[in-house]
Amino acid sequence: MYSIAIDGPAGAGKSTIAKRIAKELSFIYVDTGAMYRAMALYFLRREISPDHIEEITALCPQIHVTIEYENGEQQVILNGENVNGYIRKEEVGNMASKTSSIPAVRAALLDLQRDMAKTADILMDGRDIGTNVLPNADLKIYLTASSKVRAKRRYDELTAKGVPCDLEKIEKDIIIRDKQDMNREIAPLKKAEDAILVDSSDMTIDEVVETIKKAFQKKCSK
Ligand code: DC
Repeated sequence: MYSIAIDGPAGAGKSTIAKRIAKELSFIYVDTGAMYRAMALYFLRREISPDHIEEITALCPQIHVTIEYENGEQQVILNGENVNGYIRKEEVGNMASKTSSIPAVRAALLDLQRDMAKTADILMDGRDIGTNVLPNADLKIYLTASSKVRAKRRYDELTAKGVPCDLEKIEKDIIIRDKQDMNREIAPLKKAEDAILVDSSDMTIDEVVETIKKAFQKKCSK
């Protein structure tokens, strides 16, 4: 069984790249951010402030997040409800960045993530996969890009969907999210010592995919 860990900041293109590589190598793709988003959605729906750590901690045992696959696409199930349609909003991502710093929230997802890697060849992306969830992953990638480039990509994506947005505001939000994700006490976002740094600022998606696939072939000759 092989495992690949891809970590990096918001908007670095992790999920686009990870999905492509998983498909080409016939690995199962696990988007761990979606799991944190599902938990954040639960708290948002109950209008709980992310500062209410005790309340959030007390609720964690009632929250069951699982993963299913439909036509190869990951579906996140929150207490029996498929919430894929609700977790992609900025509001949910921002809440996830805050609530994911709470120990009980991380503990609720850690075992599930580790267990998934025991069952199949897996490519998992997130913030702490190489450093914490799968410290023995066969290949670790730290995928990043400048905040300007990440903001512009997000802006183009939203604009293409007809969603009105402001480039400066997007970059500001990205910088806030980076700070939160990199400075929390438990499992902060950082490059694992043995991870390969890939800065995609001046790379195409194809180039990033090829770079990571080559790195995997070199390490695991699959
Ligand atoms: O990758 P994403 O934007 O969907 O992740 C949403 C938030 O979830 C991110 O800002 C921090 C948190 N997260 C985490 O703490 N650990 C992970 N492995 C994945 C995501």
